[in-house]
Amino acid sequence: MHGPDPIILSRSEHPISRSQIGENTLKVMYRLHRQGFKAFLVGGGVRDLLLDRTPKDFDVGTNATPNQVKKLFRNCFLVGRRFRLAHVRFGGEVVEVATFRRQPEEGELPEDPNDHFLFAENVFGTPQEDAFRRDFTINALFYDIASFSIIDYVGGLKDLEARRIRTIGEPEVRFAEDPVRMLRALEFSARLGFTLDPAAQEGILGCAPQIATAAPARIREELMELFRHKVAAPVLRAAAEYGMLAPLLAGFEGGEATYALLSEVDQRTASGVVPEEAFCLASLFLAPFLTGCREIKTIGEALHLANELLTPHCAYFHIAHGIRHLARELLIACFRFRRGPGQRGQRRFVRHPMTPRGLELYNLWCRVAEEVVPAETWQQILCEQEQSSAPADNPPPSSSGRRPRRRGGRRRGRRRSSPESSS
Ligand code: CTP
Repeated sequence: MHGPDPIILSRSEHPISRSQIGENTLKVMYRLHRQGFKAFLVGGGVRDLLLDRTPKDFDVGTNATPNQVKKLFRNCFLVGRRFRLAHVRFGGEVVEVATFRRQPEEGELPEDPNDHFLFAENVFGTPQEDAFRRDFTINALFYDIASFSIIDYVGGLKDLEARRIRTIGEPEVRFAEDPVRMLRALEFSARLGFTLDPAAQEGILGCAPQIATAAPARIREELMELFRHKVAAPVLRAAAEYGMLAPLLAGFEGGEATYALLSEVDQRTASGVVPEEAFCLASLFLAPFLTGCREIKTIGEALHLANELLTPHCAYFHIAHGIRHLARELLIACFRFRRGPGQRGQRRFVRHPMTPRGLELYNLWCRVAEEVVPAETWQQILCEQEQSSAPADNPPPSSSGRRPRRRGGRRRGRRRSSPESSS
């Protein structure tokens, strides 16, 4: 049905060796193969091995149905109520096994367009159909455990060679089917240093506003992927250039200061820090927040502004209250850092557990913006506080065995301190 015959590279014609594939993934593939099923390594794993990069994980494609997979492995769990995937568990490791699927025909689709994506995830098909339903050619390469060969139905090998992101089929059609693909195109381009095929560029320009129709949960997840892969700055900048940023982030405007800060955040991640959602969220909004804070004097007003910025975003993306709260604390901490030391409530502020994290963010900010109060000033204050409070926080037991009395007596009716709760 689709295109010409596949290109097949035999073992001697490609560099992928079984020693590069996870042991448990191999176990799963061998067992499927021995039981007479097809077992392919699929998706990003094949792409990354061919690029000599370390894959994040290995996914297996098979013609066995989820129930057949389950029967083969005692340690197999079917996940997803509507979208059935097999997870084969080995201790903490999970090997994901998906049955080959195909793009559904127009007439097969359910009436409600919101159900199309999930429906399409559940129609089983042939390996070739499975390749053609994927997003980009470089993501649709297969490694067959039966022959150790690579199977390319879609021209992915040529595109890997040319370092190019190309959609499978017409970009407009594929982006209209699933607008998240546009964001993924920018993401893979930034992650791999690949160019976007001109047709894909045109497609994104034409379809950019449609990103607003994608499920917020999926956008939120892809957004965190950008941070995890250290490409938040280039991808969000590119999204802005394609007119996709505002529809992507519910009206968020971006701007040079934000991209510069995000670039620092990406470098922080590259140095080995795992990005937390609250930190990412605060870094997205820090530039507009601090700009808006120029005329603001009190914590109360700053809190109000932080809420104005964070609430619509968090509501749209269903971000939990706790994460929003932490993001807001980070913003408020930066407000306090910029106001400088010597303000009311400083003692409690410097002792608060979130303050060092806030200082990390402020430190990144100071690298991209000229601030009168440098992060080092606060670094010193925090260090001094730590040294002076270390013995006090862990007082040695008194000779009487009783805890020393607190100076000033007991403070009644006060909640646990928060840098937000005092000005
Ligand atoms: N895929 C797709 N369309 C999507 C999401 C995923 O076609 N919207 C397919 C692609 O073939 C992709 C595979 O599913 O390679 C796995 O998706 P994902 O894990 O998101 O990305 P990877 O390509 O594996 O990249 P990485 O894990 O390195 O992020």
